[in-house]
Amino acid sequence: MAVCMSLINMKGGVGKTTLATQIAWYATIELDKKVLLIDLDPQANASQSVMSPETYVEYLDDGGLTVADIFEQFTPTGSASGSPKKLDPDKAIYSRVEYDDGSLLHIVPSRLELSWTMRNPAGKETLLPRFVSKIEKKYDLIIIDCSPTDSILTDAAYHCSRYILVPIKAEFLASIGFPLLNRSINAFQMRHESSVLEVCGLVFNDFNRGNPKRENRLARKDVEQKAAQYKWHVFKNHIPHSDSYFRAAREGLSIESTKGTHGIVKTEFSAFAAELAKKIGI
Ligand SMILES: Nc1ncnc2c1ncn2[C@@H]1O[C@H](COP(=O)(O)OP(=O)(O)OP(=O)(O)O)[C@@H](O)[C@H]1O
Ligand SMILES: [Mg+2]
Repeated sequence: MAVCMSLINMKGGVGKTTLATQIAWYATIELDKKVLLIDLDPQANASQSVMSPETYVEYLDDGGLTVADIFEQFTPTGSASGSPKKLDPDKAIYSRVEYDDGSLLHIVPSRLELSWTMRNPAGKETLLPRFVSKIEKKYDLIIIDCSPTDSILTDAAYHCSRYILVPIKAEFLASIGFPLLNRSINAFQMRHESSVLEVCGLVFNDFNRGNPKRENRLARKDVEQKAAQYKWHVFKNHIPHSDSYFRAAREGLSIESTKGTHGIVKTEFSAFAAELAKKIGI
């Protein structure tokens, strides 16, 4: 059965999508795993950075299904009968790459219309776990990239997940979302006593490799103190700033195969990814 991990931080722009896509590539290429990335953000950044913006648009134009169709599959359409349609799970999965050794990277793309689900959420949070239960046998790792808001989509991600990975930037107010995240997880666990959801760790992303500024050092100390309060692990390996992450996203590639990436950037990312893989047992 697949290990499922969601990337969550209610603070925006901290690297959830960057790390979700790069961890997915790492598990496929370096660990030879079968990986499914689920884009659970209406912004669809993960979809565009794995598929490339051009392929993503073609996919939608060709009528490819997205995570929005999973959430809206039983919503009566404008038809006279309004009868629900059954969704074929494979039709919502785009195959980015499949290697001879069986390792692969697939993605369930997102689209802006997913924001409709957040406005009309009643009962829809069970539809994603239902989808995952139908396809998880085919994968070793399922990664869910979440949007920076606490909504029915976050609940859907909790339902599917064993682990939560929290990317953080070492900057002013870095830990501001921690109480909300903690409350959100606890509230979910109270409602679902059998759930085994766990924060597998916090990872510092996008900071100065050289001499960190005083603000970054203070923020890091604050994050470490708050993490200890909640008994959340902080990963030993961090991910410093590199413009290659932006280029990798634009080109739809792993950091390893993005031209012009310094060796040290690849080594730093691999060190973190290997530490994470060990922690979540893949
Ligand atoms: N280690 C890094 N080095 C350089 N740039 C980075 C790094 N991590 C992320 N970025 C850049 O920071 C921006 C925000 O990253 P990203 O989209 O991954 O954040 P996010 O948490 O998913 O945002 P949102 O909350 O909007 O979904 C992007 O332009 C990305 O390329
Ligand atoms: Mg994102």
